[in-house]
Order: sequence, then structure tokens, then C-alpha cells
Amino acid sequence: HSNGSIEILRQRFPIDDFTNITPAIVSKTHLQLHTTPSHPLSTLRALIESAYSDFTHVSTISPLVSPYKNFDELSFPLDHPGRAVTDSYYVNRDMMLRTHTSAHEVEMFRKGETKWLLTADVYRRDEIDASHYPIFHQVEGARIFNTDASGMKEVQEDNERLSNLLATANIVIEDIPHISATNPVQPGHDPVFSELVARNLKLSLNNLLLNVFGDVAGISKKQPLRVRWIEAYFPFTSPSFEVEVFFQGKWLEILGSGVIRQATLDTAGVQNKIGWAFGLGLERIAMVLFSIPDIRLFWSTDARFLSQFEQGKINIFQPYSKYPSCFKDVSFWVPQDTILHENDFCDLVRDTAGDLVEDVKMIDHFIHPKTNRTSLCYRINYRSMDRSLSNEEINHVQSQVVARLKDQFGVEIR
Ligand code: PHE
Repeated sequence: HSNGSIEILRQRFPIDDFTNITPAIVSKTHLQLHTTPSHPLSTLRALIESAYSDFTHVSTISPLVSPYKNFDELSFPLDHPGRAVTDSYYVNRDMMLRTHTSAHEVEMFRKGETKWLLTADVYRRDEIDASHYPIFHQVEGARIFNTDASGMKEVQEDNERLSNLLATANIVIEDIPHISATNPVQPGHDPVFSELVARNLKLSLNNLLLNVFGDVAGISKKQPLRVRWIEAYFPFTSPSFEVEVFFQGKWLEILGSGVIRQATLDTAGVQNKIGWAFGLGLERIAMVLFSIPDIRLFWSTDARFLSQFEQGKINIFQPYSKYPSCFKDVSFWVPQDTILHENDFCDLVRDTAGDLVEDVKMIDHFIHPKTNRTSLCYRINYRSMDRSLSNEEINHVQSQVVARLKDQFGVEIR
């Protein structure tokens, strides 16, 4: 941060006590992988859009939003953990990087959009391993209907159409009730209409998943696609659902969804409508579809990665040789009255080592019985996806990590 300000996407912002966005993150905000031709994330976006061909498609909205837009407009309570500086990236108290594409729901509805998809990069502070990266991509989808006889007819006809499509499909769906005591209809909603909307949401997403996973290598054409619906909670939907897809012996979390809370539509100035929304993460799905083993690969500029893909084509990624891992441990005492959150440690490592870091694990944690001081030990796994790393290079990076730990958190190395 220079001169008490920070530049992001050609805009300058003052910094304050909330500022926690790192140069490593800022440097990726303009990349737009989801619209980069031939990139797997772009192919997946287009595939999802093709399943909603009569919807408005948006994919170029800036990630800079106010916390109000990311949280308050969506009824997040003031004490929601997602608001914490340990969980989200803040430019300053008034500006952050969106943590989800739902941040644009109100804006889309306010424009009068009634059926839309919005794809974008989203940012969350997180641990470091092969399936977590602080930037990922989501598709938000929403559809609203008039709360009159014409709207009800529209939902019913669409439900009819979608259930006909599914009737002959090779899919096994584990469903749950659309509405229940623990997943209630909203006070202002007609339960019959809310059920029809929840059913439309489920039918529409079951069809989407069939389009996305239906005939992919790995999920055999003979074996049915297995989808399960789970009760969920989001501050901005009720009833709410999560969806999982069975893949290689495991249930994969795919998306969150639900009937839009009326407060959201009220804030957008939309009257006499009811509808659904979903938010789906692209990386996990793309890792499965393209057999991409490490989430960092999406950010690779190596031709051996990029040249394997063609826009609109789903093919299996052929990994080039895996280079050796190099493990380095760092143990230290945390000063009393200092809290060193794991995400602070991970951001420090990521900002120092970039994508050379594959994995960070806490391997020891204890409190000294006499002094009450906390001792932590982290094991960092360094590995490049593109080349062999020399011991010298890693030692240098590790010494920078150690120096910054002392500098920024005042820890005492053991
Ligand atoms: N925004 C939610 C998330 O990121 C997903 C979601 C979107 C849930 C729309 C409900 C409706 O987890």
C-alpha cells in the first residue's frame, strides 16, 4: 500500500484499518478467466448458459462492491461470520471484493430482469490446498414470476415441460419436501405458489445438471446421474436447498438455492413477484469434467495447460509431469494478546510464494502451561506446477515467509 491508498482495477481507494487485500489478489482481479476463450471455466460457463438460452446472460461486472451490497441487501445479520476481516477481502471499510454473485441480485432485479444468469469471479479468504483458492467463479441464476393467475400458469406450464424432459432421462434424484417445518414458506407467501416455484427451481436445476454431467467420461452413460437435494439455510432465501452430485464415490457439493426472500425483491423495487435463485461454483465442477487435479491450474499461463483446451469442448486434461514437493516447517510463539488467524497465515504465505505453494497445514498447536503463550507449527508444501524448484529458491522464499511473520505479527521463531 503506497501513500495510504491502493489501486484496484484502475481505481484508487484510501486504505484503513479494514484493508486486508494483498497484492497477490489485486494482481488477479482483471483476469476474467470465465470469459477467456478456450479456458475450461469459459467453456463451462457457456455450457450452463446454453441450458438457459432464453435468460439474460451477464459476465462482466466488477468484483468491487460495498459490504452493504454483498451482505445487508441480502438480509445478512450484522454478526454474520462472513463479514469478518478474517473471512473476506476488504479494500477498506466501505469497499470489498464480492464473496458471492448474489451481491448483484438486487441490481439485476432493479433493472427489471426477470430471468437471468450472471457469471463472475468471487473472493474468500481460505485455507490452502488442491481444492481451495481465494478466488473462484460462480454462476448466479434467477427467475421471477408474477404473483397472479398468469404467473401461476407460467410456472405450471414450465414445470410440466421440465418434468417431461426428466421423465425419460437417466437420472436418480433424492428429493426432499419443497417446504417443511425446518425449511419454511415465507410469511407473506402463498404456500401453493411457493411450492410451485421451489419445484420449478428443482426441475430446472436437475435438467441443468443432466446437461452438464449427463454424458461425461467418468459418469458413465449407462450409470444414472445421481443428484440429491438437501435442506439448507441462506439469509436471503426460504425455503433453501443445496444440491450434491455423486461422482467417483463421493457426494460433491454443487450449489445453493432457494425461494428468494421477499425483502430482496422489495429492496429492488419489484412488486407482485415471486421467484427462485441459485448460486453455483464453477471450479469444482470443471475439475470433475476436465479431470483437473489442482485448482491452481486454472490460473496457469503455461501453454502445456492452456493449449489442451478448446472453447466449447470438454476433454480430459493430460497432466504433464508432477514436479517434486518440498516441505518446510515453521514453528513460532505467538505474542500474548495477538490472534493469528489461519487465513492470515495463508494470505501471508500466498502473497510471498504465489502459486508455488500447494498446501498449508497446521501440524502442531499448544499453549504453554506456565507462560500461557501459544505455539504454532505450520508445514508448507511448495511445488510448482510448471517446473522443478531448486532448494535455494525455496529456502529463499521460506526465509521471506519467516521474516514477514516476525515483521507483521511479531512472532518469535522457535
Ligand atoms: N450465494 C450463495 C453462496 O455463495 C449461494 C446461493 C445463491 C444460495 C442464491 C441461495 C440463492 O453460498
